[in-house]
Amino acid sequence: MGLGGMVRRLGRYLGVPASSRFRLLGPDRPPATPGDGWDSPRVAQRQDAAWRSLLDQMRAGHPRNDMLALRDALLASGLRAPSLLEVGCGSGYYSEILSHLVSPMLRYAGVDRSAAMLNLARQHYPSIPFVRGDAVRLPFAARAFDIVLNGNALMHILDTDAAVAESVRVARTWCVFHTVPTLEGRPDQYLKKSVYGEAVTEVVLDQARLEGLFGRHGLTIRARYPSIPHPYLDPLVGKTRTWTYLCGN
Ligand SMILES: C[S@@+](CC[C@H](N)C(=O)[O-])C[C@H]1O[C@@H](n2cnc3c(N)ncnc32)[C@H](O)[C@@H]1O
Repeated sequence: MGLGGMVRRLGRYLGVPASSRFRLLGPDRPPATPGDGWDSPRVAQRQDAAWRSLLDQMRAGHPRNDMLALRDALLASGLRAPSLLEVGCGSGYYSEILSHLVSPMLRYAGVDRSAAMLNLARQHYPSIPFVRGDAVRLPFAARAFDIVLNGNALMHILDTDAAVAESVRVARTWCVFHTVPTLEGRPDQYLKKSVYGEAVTEVVLDQARLEGLFGRHGLTIRARYPSIPHPYLDPLVGKTRTWTYLCGN
């Protein structure tokens, strides 16, 4: 088995989604493409299926470490029954995770750019509001939610600056950026890969630049929790560390 196969196997063992066909683009932001792999119904189905078994494990008392990182961040916010918007909500499974691990009183809403993801979300959770929209132009008023959670989507949004600015605009008190892989001492690195068989573009962010960007948008980092590693990135861009940030504004 080659290095790629070993990395994918390790990724599956750690519960990381199956990724393949990596291509490093380098530090310059590529032009936005009209659509990407997340729009594909097949990708939505496959990601959802992978998370259904993680939900079963959570209900059996074994939540994965990224769920625990987010739980800790949200509990540290001190809000007992917050309204929360998840940006990049996918098929909505974090509504269930947060109700289970944080509080059933948390009032969840989700936004995603992919209609395929939202179709599944509405099937699973018909009473929860799911809205189609882009992280860089959120279809919500200023200060509409107590907490804006970027749910493992920052690395998929190529305009990081606009995504952070929009989260800050829509949040009343807290912004959480969940499961963000970062590099130390290296500039942002863009890459293309295939996720569940479809092409997506990702960015691995320079940690110092990202944390500086939070500050420039008026955010203070209150806590930073290690989330699950993305070992498939390291052979490509160097050692990465994955964080869940709790930021106050
Ligand atoms: C890796 S999935 C994350 C799903 C879920 N939040 C989680 O934590 O597992 C990334 C999601 O971000 C969404 N996404 C990517 N770019 C987006 C954008 N610019 N605006 C809104 N959603 C976006 C994708 O459609 C996809 O559902």
